[in-house]
Amino acid sequence: MDKQRSWIVASVVLLLFAAVTLLLLTVHVDEIQEPPQYTYGIVLDAGSSHTTVYVYRWPADKQNGTGVVTQHSECKVKGGGISSYAGQQGAAGRSLEACLYRAMVDIPQARHHLTPVYLGATAGMRLLNISSPEKSMQVLQEVAATIKSFPFKFQTVKILSGKEEGAYGWVTVNYLLENFIKYGFVGRWLNSGRQTVGALDLGGASTQITFVSKEKIEDLENSMTLRLYGQDYSLYTHSYLCYGQNEVLRRLLAHLLTTQDITGIVHHPCYPSDHRETLNLQQVFESPCITSQRPAVSNTETSAIVQGTGNYQHCLGNISEIFSFQNCLFSQCSFDGVFQPNTSGSFMAFSAFFFTHSFMKKSTGIYISTPDHLRQAAQSVCNMTFVKMSKDFPEQKSYLKDYCAVTVYIQVLMLRGYRFDDQSLTRVSFQNKAGDSSLGWSLGYMLSMSSMLPEESVNLRRALHPGAWISLLLLIALLISTTLIFIILQVCQKKSNV
Ligand SMILES: *[C@@H]1O[C@H](CO)[C@@H](O)[C@H](O)[C@H]1NC(C)=O
Ligand SMILES: *[C@@H]1O[C@H](CO)[C@@H](O)[C@H](O)[C@H]1NC(C)=O
Ligand SMILES: *[C@@H]1O[C@H](CO)[C@@H](O)[C@H](O)[C@H]1NC(C)=O
Ligand SMILES: *[C@@H]1O[C@H](CO)[C@@H](O)[C@H](O)[C@H]1NC(C)=O
Ligand SMILES: *[C@@H]1O[C@H](CO)[C@@H](O)[C@H](O)[C@H]1NC(C)=O
Repeated sequence: MDKQRSWIVASVVLLLFAAVTLLLLTVHVDEIQEPPQYTYGIVLDAGSSHTTVYVYRWPADKQNGTGVVTQHSECKVKGGGISSYAGQQGAAGRSLEACLYRAMVDIPQARHHLTPVYLGATAGMRLLNISSPEKSMQVLQEVAATIKSFPFKFQTVKILSGKEEGAYGWVTVNYLLENFIKYGFVGRWLNSGRQTVGALDLGGASTQITFVSKEKIEDLENSMTLRLYGQDYSLYTHSYLCYGQNEVLRRLLAHLLTTQDITGIVHHPCYPSDHRETLNLQQVFESPCITSQRPAVSNTETSAIVQGTGNYQHCLGNISEIFSFQNCLFSQCSFDGVFQPNTSGSFMAFSAFFFTHSFMKKSTGIYISTPDHLRQAAQSVCNMTFVKMSKDFPEQKSYLKDYCAVTVYIQVLMLRGYRFDDQSLTRVSFQNKAGDSSLGWSLGYMLSMSSMLPEESVNLRRALHPGAWISLLLLIALLISTTLIFIILQVCQKKSNV
């Protein structure tokens, strides 16, 4: 009698074991998969200050999930952005060659002709297209010709609009964080049920803010609806041309030069007090972002002497004057008359936001989670001498004189412009990467251009070697039925014995 009972217990345990194995099999399928063959894609992010070539890859048999595409390699093009070669025959194209050769090495040869290449240019080329449409066209034609001379599948070369740049940056962030859909244990992609994260991008010539807003978008220019994986997202987005960090620094100089007497020494409140330089006036005033006229001095005047004063209050005053906080035609604005609803949800701040934040953290030891922290950190950065900074950060020598200005600019932009406050600033995280992939518009752009962001929800089954899968399933099914039959027989026998 006891012996029989232990047999039944043993069988039940076996049955449970088999059932668990079956469950595990449906969850951990990936591990028994053969090494997948990868498919690749290339995006050239042609920014205002430099170009970066990104190579992405994903398993050839999967593409519609999120988090499936990852960054394979990244190559920074030497020299300036493509717009800086305007008017120099062939130079913009040539500058890209080294990184395109790198991509040929990074991608297996058999895959070259299947690998799509996209070049997207941003604010630097937007500005060139304003100041000289012919030169901008010529640069685009030259880079297209260079890319076509490589054995990849040429797709497009274009200037992205500010709206596209903002939206693709947002797509990248949320794709990498798997906020659109997630892989369920039943072997299907499910709606993740998570909130999306807003994107804050700071480039050389423009800055973008993009987030999902439930409030009414009063200006259609700032509204964008995306349908991804069966879900509608109503985005608020704006790209501020001329508010990238390099253009802001240039506009600040122009502002100082036009409000002071340039024949004497010009005081720069954001430069460290032990920094003095001679400025080439031509270079300051040549950008289309500079609306103020060159100071009217004799034509022989081509340079000015600029002396830092390291004065936080004056720096804040002068940088605030670059923004316009008047003339809002909507219920509320950020600045320059641009409509902006209250920010909502969490944000990811990348590119120059990340680099400046990490300098602030390292140099001041202040962890920034409230507006007061940000103000304190800016004050502290502006109070540092050049000698001290060079001692602590010798590898960043060429950027050091500008950190105070950029820090104060970020303070004004985020606190007065975007209106981040004690609550919302704690939800901003400063990051440059998610996993191994860089944050920026380029991944989102490639996903969209290559139709890897389906509008409707996807319902992919796991890709497993079908033979192995079926044999395993049959084996487990056999085990379960044998055990079941055994238990039933035992129970029947027990009954008839009674
Ligand atoms: C340059 O700007 C004009 C006017 O906004 C626009 O129509 C044109 O498409 C732009 N050129 C490129 C190459 O994007
Ligand atoms: C701008 O900087 C100059 C020079 O340091 C200073 O005299 C002036 O007061 C500043 N302006 C404001 C509004 O703070
Ligand atoms: C936006 O934020 C302000 C300040 O926190 C608040 O007074 C206002 O009601 C908010 N507006 C909306 C539409 O939520
Ligand atoms: C600026 O630095 C000086 C010494 O270098 C220090 O005495 C002063 O308190 C600092 N001010 C701020 C606002 O950090
Ligand atoms: C991914 O989605 C696109 C568009 O919905 C579809 O054309 C394509 O076949 C899908 N790919 C896979 C592997 O399911």
